[in-house]
Amino acid sequence: MQLSIIAGARPNFMKIAPLIRPLKDVGFATKIIHSGQHYDQKMSQTFFDELNIPHPDLNLGVGSGSHIWQISEVMRRLETEFTENPPAAVVVVGDVNSTLAAALTAVKLGIPVAHVESGLRSFDRAMPEEINRIMTDAISDWLFTSEPSAQTNLEREGVPAERIHFVGNVMIDTLLSHRKQAQALHSSRELGCGDKDYVVLTLHRPSNVDDPERLESILKAVHDISEDYPVLFPIHPRTRGQLQKFGFAERHDLNGYRMVEPQGYHSMLSLMDGARFVLTDSGGMQEETTALGVPCLTLRENTERPSTIESGSNQLVGWRTDDILAAVGRIKSSPDRSSQIPEKWDGKTSTRIAEILHRDLA
Ligand code: UD1
Repeated sequence: MQLSIIAGARPNFMKIAPLIRPLKDVGFATKIIHSGQHYDQKMSQTFFDELNIPHPDLNLGVGSGSHIWQISEVMRRLETEFTENPPAAVVVVGDVNSTLAAALTAVKLGIPVAHVESGLRSFDRAMPEEINRIMTDAISDWLFTSEPSAQTNLEREGVPAERIHFVGNVMIDTLLSHRKQAQALHSSRELGCGDKDYVVLTLHRPSNVDDPERLESILKAVHDISEDYPVLFPIHPRTRGQLQKFGFAERHDLNGYRMVEPQGYHSMLSLMDGARFVLTDSGGMQEETTALGVPCLTLRENTERPSTIESGSNQLVGWRTDDILAAVGRIKSSPDRSSQIPEKWDGKTSTRIAEILHRDLA
């Protein structure tokens, strides 16, 4: 019995990686389909190599475009694939455009859908991912959740309880199985930084990097922080473009950071693990810092991952310079905060998912 597993963008790759072995162990054949949403070596292939993900059986090669174009193009190309080679079910992960496109194509063709990392809600519909999450969950048959808030959200939206499975966090399966290898890299040393003596910054959300006022306000705070700690900034391609476009790259008062290329999985994990704190607008890094016990200041006003705040490692700081700096002050004056690990973030999530799919499909 064959399952098609869809991945398209960087945050998908660490979520599909741990699923493949347990799905095979319970007897499924797996077909990996890459939509091509992310295509740079450093945004895609590096992760397949480092996480030992088998080469995709099919790459749809869609590339960049408007969201509507990207979603419809993935759907058009997947229709051909699913019609010619219908799988028993389609597995989608996360909340990117490729996730929604694959789920919608499958359901229109009568193929059941399993959504991994279901039920997360920021309640901010201006976020493209929020629309992708709501839509994907509404049409999925198995809703695999990573934290208790997801169950509440899905029940509120009327999803029948028997479809919801609280299994934990697949991304933490990957983190736990690669942490030692990552630590051995000591990536910060190569960049001339000592342990717990630097900050890691990532920024790519449209709400931050497409709005010059917000981007400027965040970069002013970064400039201030850089007087105490080097700020390592692995740069997303779209952010690099925006810094050029707004003329911020040349502004002395806005470039306290040390820009580095997008990092591979191990190197990024190593950098986060050794950081004094992390400053980010990423969803996944809020969870990874929680698992690592590293303080995280999230440059957003909401999060779809409240367990990272309840566990004590994550704080929402928005985009205003003063708010960011006030939170940095609190971190500096308090001893290292250790966080609690949320329930079922134990490295066994993929096995739970494989067992449920096997029980229901085999
Ligand atoms: C996507 C996801 C976002 C996720 C992020 C992680 C959606 C709606 N968004 O956002 O949830 O957090 O990935 O990176 O699916 N680009 C390249 N090379 C690449 C990929 C992108 O240069 O390999 C540039 C292109 O200019 C492209 C832009 O980045 O237009 C944005 O890429 P896109 O995939 O549309 O969205 P992300 O911002 O990466």
